[in-house]
Amino acid sequence: MKKKSPIHVCLFPAAGYGTRFLPATKSMPKEMLPVLTKPLIQYGVEEAMEAGMNTMAIVTGRGKRAIEDHFDISYELEHQIKGTSKEKMLADIRHIIDKCTFSYTRQKEMKGLGHAILTGKPLVSYQPFAVILADDLCVNEGEGVLSQMVKLYEKYQCSIVAIEEIDPQQTDRYGVIAGVEIEPGIYRVSTMVEKPAPADAPTNLAIIGRYILTPDIFDILRTTQPGKGGEIQITDALMAQALAGNVIACKFQGKRYDCGSIDGYVEATVELYQQSLKN
Ligand code: G1P
Repeated sequence: MKKKSPIHVCLFPAAGYGTRFLPATKSMPKEMLPVLTKPLIQYGVEEAMEAGMNTMAIVTGRGKRAIEDHFDISYELEHQIKGTSKEKMLADIRHIIDKCTFSYTRQKEMKGLGHAILTGKPLVSYQPFAVILADDLCVNEGEGVLSQMVKLYEKYQCSIVAIEEIDPQQTDRYGVIAGVEIEPGIYRVSTMVEKPAPADAPTNLAIIGRYILTPDIFDILRTTQPGKGGEIQITDALMAQALAGNVIACKFQGKRYDCGSIDGYVEATVELYQQSLKN
């Protein structure tokens, strides 16, 4: 039996176009791009399950139906390969389908990550929840990144973001935090800025695509004005919580691959392949 988690729901914003992978993403969701044999979003769902969650809330958009089909039974296919050596290739996804509930809503317009999260509110209801951005693929030999964050949530009872040190020249790709280190690698956040130019960045501590959010974030998001790029930014909404001391940032154990970029995607593929040869 999986450990009991205080967080049950994991939200996956998955409405983005994935233009960096065109033409592959012309008719296929970027979240379905495979690393080895598994689509990116399945890695995310497995990480959420490992952290004790069983309700997956997915914010989709036009052209994303393959995600729904992936997390559903395919009777015809299963019938075809029953009793063959291929059957075991569906064992993991079948386990996920059996253990989890999936719900979907569509984000009709692309108005930013904060807007996508607010769109998911009807699927989450008023409780703390996790967010995974599936194109940040995280791996760790020990417990997963989200599991590490759930532990911190249990301790601090506030929103938690995962961070890593980045090349200071790349701050304009990330939300960047500053704060007071209260335990090794754990910060109480005082400042958050969305994609600052290197000269304006308070630190080189960048938020990666893992969050645990307390539900008051929805109230904040409802009145958050468009920020960087004219979009409603989760970083800006979190800043309101941070001003009250209610955001913790954690340098996680493990490795993140930015599978939203070709470089990161290829790196993930090569490293996970090398790893698979050892197993
Ligand atoms: C989003 C967030 C950003 C965060 C990043 C992590 O940006 O807005 O704060 O650092 O995810 O991957 P995006 O990559 O969607 O532009």
